[in-house]
Amino acid sequence: MQEAVATKDKYKVIGPVYDLLSTLYSGRSIHNCKVAMLNPQHLQPGDRILFAGVGHGKDAIHAAELGAQVTVVDLSETMLRKFQEQLDRENKQFRYPIRKLHLDIFKVDEAEQYDMVVANFFLNVFSENMMKDVLRHLTSLAKPGGRIVVGDFTDTTGNLLSRLAKKAYWYVAVTLFWAMAKNAFHKIYNYPQYMEELGLTIEERKYFKLLNMDCYWSVLGRKPN
Ligand SMILES: C[S@@+](CC[C@H](N)C(=O)[O-])C[C@H]1O[C@@H](n2cnc3c(N)ncnc32)[C@H](O)[C@@H]1O
Repeated sequence: MQEAVATKDKYKVIGPVYDLLSTLYSGRSIHNCKVAMLNPQHLQPGDRILFAGVGHGKDAIHAAELGAQVTVVDLSETMLRKFQEQLDRENKQFRYPIRKLHLDIFKVDEAEQYDMVVANFFLNVFSENMMKDVLRHLTSLAKPGGRIVVGDFTDTTGNLLSRLAKKAYWYVAVTLFWAMAKNAFHKIYNYPQYMEELGLTIEERKYFKLLNMDCYWSVLGRKPN
């Protein structure tokens, strides 16, 4: 495994219970959002796929089960340890072994190498300007014609009341992660807008509900050829 120079592990405390919190917070919705675009329609056996800020990484394991060549990257040693524990628990054989990088995403210097780059609940960690830089970097890692998938919170649909409820729901999460992992404190980002600004074509959006409100979405953008 490629290793990062030692940095403070911001997910040391909350990392071990991250997936548990996500289930308590959303039921299956977050998980369903994370695997929404990982299906044979979008991902072929042998495709190279990168998971940025992989966390516990059930989505990455799902992609490996489909026969993709999976690379995962995370800055947190704790998160990568939880990912390895998940792999060990599932004890599955994949067509390609999963490649693990313990690195800052900006240190992944593999321009135009990936058929798909996945940012599930990753971009929301950053302040708006930094998020735009990260998204630009992720886009540079995709091959021409490759796909960028962003799974995250949304508040773009519904009436005023439902949008307010979704904002409140987001601010509970962002406050917790701001306090526990020093994530940036910010509004819900409208990811398709930033993706289009980078020249991606939005091909698909799938929504995931909680209490009958679209709280999460998975957005698939295509890089020009
Ligand atoms: C909110 S968690 C999401 C984890 C996972 N993708 C999921 O959906 O459950 C954000 C992840 O990004 C990682 N991360 C934050 N900044 C990073 C960076 N600059 N480079 C790589 N990983 C980073 C964190 O360590 C954490 O595992």
